[in-house]
Amino acid sequence: EKGTYPYYMLKEIDEQPAVMRRLVQEYRQADGEIHIDSALVSELAASDRVYIVACGTSSHAGWAAKRFFEELTQIPVEIHLSSEFGYNLPLISKKPFFIYLSQSGETADSRQVLVKTNELDYPALTITNVAGSTLSREADHTLLLYAGPEIAVASTKAYTAQIAVMALLATAVGRTKGLAKATNFPVFQELGIVASAMESIISEKSHFSDLTAEYLTATRNAFYIGRGNDYYVSMEAALKLKEISYIQAEGFAAGELKHGTIALIEEGTPVIGIITDEVTGSHTRGNLKEVESRGAKTLVIASEALAKVGDQILLPQVHPYLTSLLAVLPTQLLAYYATLQRGYDVDKPRNLAKSVTVE
Ligand code: M6R
Repeated sequence: EKGTYPYYMLKEIDEQPAVMRRLVQEYRQADGEIHIDSALVSELAASDRVYIVACGTSSHAGWAAKRFFEELTQIPVEIHLSSEFGYNLPLISKKPFFIYLSQSGETADSRQVLVKTNELDYPALTITNVAGSTLSREADHTLLLYAGPEIAVASTKAYTAQIAVMALLATAVGRTKGLAKATNFPVFQELGIVASAMESIISEKSHFSDLTAEYLTATRNAFYIGRGNDYYVSMEAALKLKEISYIQAEGFAAGELKHGTIALIEEGTPVIGIITDEVTGSHTRGNLKEVESRGAKTLVIASEALAKVGDQILLPQVHPYLTSLLAVLPTQLLAYYATLQRGYDVDKPRNLAKSVTVE
């Protein structure tokens, strides 16, 4: 039930801190260790490459997890779109491990790949919000998102829950391999910090509705840019904006702008920069300056430690592995308010279904 909320999407955005805390509860053992089936952890630890297969927002969650997963486990990670992978199986490593990310567990494109990898006898894990769903039943292992039902077509809390579960899994695998980075990463504590940081963003809703009125509501198109993890969040931010507000939006690797897309910048085009990475932040700022000088209206979402005077949205500090969990939140709220102000149905965008059960 959406209770006093006008739309499920807003309720689901608001639930994210509670989902982070629920994941800590569900996955923390009495001894403080991570509660994930040891057969799954050791099978993954023995693999030489992880293949994440997913669609839409779930594939973006895969991207958001790629870097920390590789660092914590020392296993290379590839992200594949189910609808591409299904028809052209790439060269597979000697000991692959497949992870299917799917909120619904019913996405036909992903299931089609799972059927294939099962035929080839490759080990598979489904990370899903729905216990007993098709992808869960057909994979060797399942990890649940514990996000509660997600009703709005635009996925929000499933994205952050998927990233959090990937962090728990990567930490468990890295610890099994005896890797210091994983042993020293206090994953439960860090997810708790993320939950509190999410609350502080959520408590400033009116700020986001003012920003959309100023930057997004009347625009025809918009761009999100970032580098590294901030680029991966940009892809998700753009999908969220376009699927419900119908503003044509693209998420870019900031450095790619000058290789073509900058031609689209006109007087007043909104360009939103995401800056949470201290190595690349100043480069993204440079790109924002470039588009500003061509007339773009820029808006900055930055971690507090990297913020500059004039930045419109500040993110409390969280562990560098987990910045996507936080950076995505303002972009969900911007999509929500832009849609509301443009007068569209936030929960039920045109032409879309909650789960896509045809290939
Ligand atoms: O249920 P799934 O996670 O497998 O769904 C995948 C996509 O269809 C889904 O994330 C879609 O992109 C959302 N509408 C995005 O908000």
